Amino acid sequence: MTASFPTTRLRRNRRHDWSRRLVRENTLTPDDLIWPVFVREGRDVAEPVASMPGVDRLSVDRVAAAAGEAKSLGIPAIALFPQTLPEKKDEDGTEATNPDNLVCRAIRAVKEAHPDIGVICDAALDPFTSHGHDGVIRDGYVANDESVEILCRQSVVQAAAGCDIIAPSDMMDGRVGAIRAALDAEGFDRVRIMSYAAKYASGFYGPFRDAVGSSTALKGDKKTYQMDPANGDEALREVELDIAEGADMVMVKPGLPYLDIVRRVKDRFGVPTYAYQVSGEYSMLRGAVERGWLDGDRVILEALTAFKRAGADGVLTYFAIDAARRLNG
Ligand code: PBG
Repeated sequence: MTASFPTTRLRRNRRHDWSRRLVRENTLTPDDLIWPVFVREGRDVAEPVASMPGVDRLSVDRVAAAAGEAKSLGIPAIALFPQTLPEKKDEDGTEATNPDNLVCRAIRAVKEAHPDIGVICDAALDPFTSHGHDGVIRDGYVANDESVEILCRQSVVQAAAGCDIIAPSDMMDGRVGAIRAALDAEGFDRVRIMSYAAKYASGFYGPFRDAVGSSTALKGDKKTYQMDPANGDEALREVELDIAEGADMVMVKPGLPYLDIVRRVKDRFGVPTYAYQVSGEYSMLRGAVERGWLDGDRVILEALTAFKRAGADGVLTYFAIDAARRLNG
């Protein structure tokens, strides 16, 4: 209940910095940040991603060093995304289940150098398939159940390399339960699952697909498995199923254009809920800041704080290092 003006003047609490801090409802800290990192072959290389200014593809040794930097800034976890060499890609994404593939080598290097930072890896086939889809194609359709079997093997291989959190980003039906069972059967019952539960068929993933090299490969779109951007209720059904199948944490993706979904998921289920501020969101902000159209000192933390206000427990963001530095002063 609020008395009316002039008894109530909401500006009173905004008058000084100390009182603004006193009434602040949400606080962003480095604990809220997950840093997605692109991994490439080679030694001691950092190759800029053209469509993501300030973001590099790092060789495995550099990834391990970057993990150390993230750790020292207080970032709890990093997410690794491999750029698979074109000659290693095939129709069925076989390389995904190779225990010595690029992402597994990166996991081992990070865990060896920094055992106490969390490592997250996707379960999805798109970095490994010649056609760029997240599953295998049979009769012109991304085959659900057969793809799930491969995702299970991919998850086990990544867990064996030391991955702490498997993040199924493929949007096949039933994959969370199948991956949980496969991990448990191999003795990885302590490995967590962060499900990309409500993942939309979004145009905002464009720069990411450049970064991992799946855009040139991608034939068609992902609308037969990723969600329709027009739907909200369906996201709640996706999340409900994933929780029932054993997801430890759920994610909404993309981020800012889908904050309504974050809020609904958090209110309805009260589970650890994350948002992915995706590549296109990063590039929009970074591009405008580079041109001087927006003030980076203001918009980066403002956008990340919006996720907290919407109810997210954390954000996957390419700004993680930059933001953590700002937050640490
Ligand atoms: C792979 C995957 C994608 C992203 C994360 N995991 C791309 C896609 O589904 O096409 C997007 C991340 C980003 O845009 O930053 N399934």
